[in-house]
Amino acid sequence: MTAPLYRFAVISDVHIDLEDGGKKTYFTYAEDNFLHSLKTINNLGCRFIISAGDQITNASGGTAEWRRYRELIAQSGYDGLILEALGNHETRCAKYGCTLSHSLGEFLAYAGLEHKPVNLPSGKTYYEYLDPTCGDSFIFMALENGADANLLDNFSAEQMDWVERLVEKRTKESRRIFLIQHAPIYAYGAGDRTDSPAYAGSIRMQDECGKPFPGNRRFKALIESRKNIIWLSGHTHVDFADNVNFANEACRMLHVPALAGTTRIIADKSGGFTLDRTFRPHCAQGYHVEVYDDKTIFQGYDFYSGDPIEKILFTIPRNST
Ligand SMILES: [Fe+2]
Ligand SMILES: [Fe+2]
Repeated sequence: MTAPLYRFAVISDVHIDLEDGGKKTYFTYAEDNFLHSLKTINNLGCRFIISAGDQITNASGGTAEWRRYRELIAQSGYDGLILEALGNHETRCAKYGCTLSHSLGEFLAYAGLEHKPVNLPSGKTYYEYLDPTCGDSFIFMALENGADANLLDNFSAEQMDWVERLVEKRTKESRRIFLIQHAPIYAYGAGDRTDSPAYAGSIRMQDECGKPFPGNRRFKALIESRKNIIWLSGHTHVDFADNVNFANEACRMLHVPALAGTTRIIADKSGGFTLDRTFRPHCAQGYHVEVYDDKTIFQGYDFYSGDPIEKILFTIPRNST
């Protein structure tokens, strides 16, 4: 087999968590998992890392967690590029009196976007990275309107104008397009199952009164009309073993479990589904990705142990339309 053009790693939901200064941390294994994963990825020869949102938890403010996030990267020895998407938790401190714009500013500062080799619209939290060798386009969308992704219209008209124009341009240029957008759509293509039945936090097409969310609808129309997009999402935290990993019909999407520790879908007492949120130690799931001329191969990986997860393997042929 020929060598890949390049490799990268995808992680999501790192969830550095310093609730009450670290005294009441919920994501117990977040720091250990992140540190081990960076070391593994460093050894795999990845050109860069994509982090699909929720780098921090904002359990009682974002600043200390962002600082810890940066400290862990420095401590790990990984000095390559990490490209972060804005998830919903990055803006969660609005619940504690911080303004949304303060949270967005912290994301820009601590993700260091103004110092990374990206195309960043001025003052925005969405951006594009063009791979320097192959010219592939990595488009990072942002949940820019706040933490309650399931209750909001998450994308401004300005963001959707930007992303639609960019996708059209990159499609005409015949580039590969990877779109990183943190939150899946509720009861829709969240994997090899048709939905993620226990997870209610995904984005909706209308509010509780039935009023349409135009930004969310434009996003859905975009990923359905452009099958050359490979959409990478996170947010549900659900484990690879529960098969909510891949959609290939209405759109092309890969869902990435939480690096901080996964949840499992289990039956509830009423015959429905619920989530088991008991975290297991030494488990940090993500993808190791190889890009070839005619396809991209996503290999599920336990970045804690450093082992591939053989059953989790998706080969996506290149599609230029
Ligand atoms: Fe999350
Ligand atoms: Fe999230």
